[in-house]
Amino acid sequence: MDTKTEDQVIQTQLTQGRSDWPDEPLTITTASVDAQIEDFFYDSYLRYFKTAESRRRWCVDSDIPWAEITSNASETTALIVESFSAVEMFLPDYTHKITDLVRKSRGRALFQANWGYEESKHSIVLDMWLERSGKRTEDQMAEFERSLLGGEWKLPFDSPRQMICYTMIQELATGVNYNNLRERAESEGDVCLARVLRWVAADESAHYNFFRKGVKAFMELDPEGTAKDIKWVFDHFSMPAHALIPEWDERGKAIEDAGVYGPKVYLGKVRRPIIEDLALTREQLRGTGLSEAEVQEISDKEDERQEAIRQGKYSRFTTIATSPRLLHPCKRIVTTIP
Ligand SMILES: [Fe+2]
Ligand SMILES: [Fe+2]
Repeated sequence: MDTKTEDQVIQTQLTQGRSDWPDEPLTITTASVDAQIEDFFYDSYLRYFKTAESRRRWCVDSDIPWAEITSNASETTALIVESFSAVEMFLPDYTHKITDLVRKSRGRALFQANWGYEESKHSIVLDMWLERSGKRTEDQMAEFERSLLGGEWKLPFDSPRQMICYTMIQELATGVNYNNLRERAESEGDVCLARVLRWVAADESAHYNFFRKGVKAFMELDPEGTAKDIKWVFDHFSMPAHALIPEWDERGKAIEDAGVYGPKVYLGKVRRPIIEDLALTREQLRGTGLSEAEVQEISDKEDERQEAIRQGKYSRFTTIATSPRLLHPCKRIVTTIP
């Protein structure tokens, strides 16, 4: 697979899901909406867990080419890595507050537990790279960590449905962040950092897909109420870093100047792809605050897609590689149970 194809695969995985995890519409039964949602999330979590265990697990020690570590990355790149690691450090707040909100839903609560494990690796591996590359000393890391201790993340929305809309947006934005930073690391010739970022972005992409499927399930069962929540969350969305990290304005500017993330990236690579993916009606699209021209463009595209599906000309689930070629989880001993 050449680099371009691999990048296209990553982009597709980030925005449209994975080929091995198709969007299956809910089967509408006579059960209550709550019961159907619970069934959906539990089933969705089991699928997620199975794929994660068999194909996506990676080790911070053996799946990163630490032997090839260099200090090739620029100081700006190191500053961005440090900033992203800082956001990941508020994991105790994210896990306990979201789990508390969704604890009555077994599927969502189990997902949050697994999510917490996967997210915990992100700050560890980013910190390992900062130290091993020589970009930061142990003392600098400790000092920076101390400066973060005063902050506490608060739930930005207080209903489980609004929170899943929020986490859907936030996870895609995070995946785009890491993917853009990975491209920068590659252009600076930092193989080790590029691999770190590829694994982290793969996790973020899987998180986004779990949440996106959940939002679609809510859309199917309560289209109007869910569309209102999506609009509300988009209208009030901001990434957690803004409120948590000291001197974020400076860091945010460096991230934007580097082309990794900013308003333009958010609108083009996060907001728009999500709105297109949710297949909202014209009326719902107007409700999201898009311009009339954008509403027409998205609706026409969706109409064409639906027509192609009706005529059997188009498959929603194109075959793409399950992960980029260079990613191979660490070897495991497979035993056969007699
Ligand atoms: Fe993360
Ligand atoms: Fe994530």
